Amino acid sequence: MRIPIIAGNWKMNATVSEAVQLVRDMLPGMEKIDGVEKVICPPFVSLWALKDLLKNSVVKLAAQNLYYQEKGAYTGEVSPGMVRELCDYVIIGHSERRAYFGETDELVNRKVHAALKVGLNPIVCVGETLEKREQGKAEEVVAGQIKNGLAGVELGPTMVIAYEPVWAIGTGRAATPDDANRMAKLIRESIAAISAPALARDIRIQYGGSVTASNIAEFIVRKEIDGALVGGASLKAAEFVSILEQTARLKKA
Ligand code: PGA
Repeated sequence: MRIPIIAGNWKMNATVSEAVQLVRDMLPGMEKIDGVEKVICPPFVSLWALKDLLKNSVVKLAAQNLYYQEKGAYTGEVSPGMVRELCDYVIIGHSERRAYFGETDELVNRKVHAALKVGLNPIVCVGETLEKREQGKAEEVVAGQIKNGLAGVELGPTMVIAYEPVWAIGTGRAATPDDANRMAKLIRESIAAISAPALARDIRIQYGGSVTASNIAEFIVRKEIDGALVGGASLKAAEFVSILEQTARLKKA
């Protein structure tokens, strides 16, 4: 049984005081929901304040990135150990990092290794661009990102993969549930090719890209989809709580 996991990726939104307010608004609703792992991914600067706010809560925190070195002269970067003191999860290889900050599969791979070394659970993002999709290469791209991004990684059941087609992120144009499910299955098969089959069965796969309270149900009822990585809709307290609530209800059914 895979426990569903919903993560709210706030990206570069919310100051510390706004972040605290947003969590205060969400928390009563979130606390009522069982059977779903709930993760909030705020900017680094808010992690400390939110950790304090969430200290008696089951809501978990994730960072949106980290650097793979342990420490040293890397101005502006944040180490795995620093993140580990505050978070259970870390997003690695988000398409915005790949597109705007030049992150390659090789860098993603280093970051995944570094995260696991300190006991952080990576949420590894994969997904094809529109160009690759139109060339009929979506499967090839995603299978390659899995193979290269996870090379040499000792996979564990706490690891999460987010399938996020780049053309669906922030566009209001989500993938079809059929397609998202098919790609999630392909990801599971790609993982089976590099690990024990039991592990591929246990790893959770999220869909991400324009997930809202209005379309989450269509994705979450699909067999291969274990949750969602939610961007824009995770910045609205009532909508995020609704996404969690629908996930809990539909996955239990
Ligand atoms: P979106 O972002 O829900 O705003 O499309 C998803 C993501 O980038 O994780």
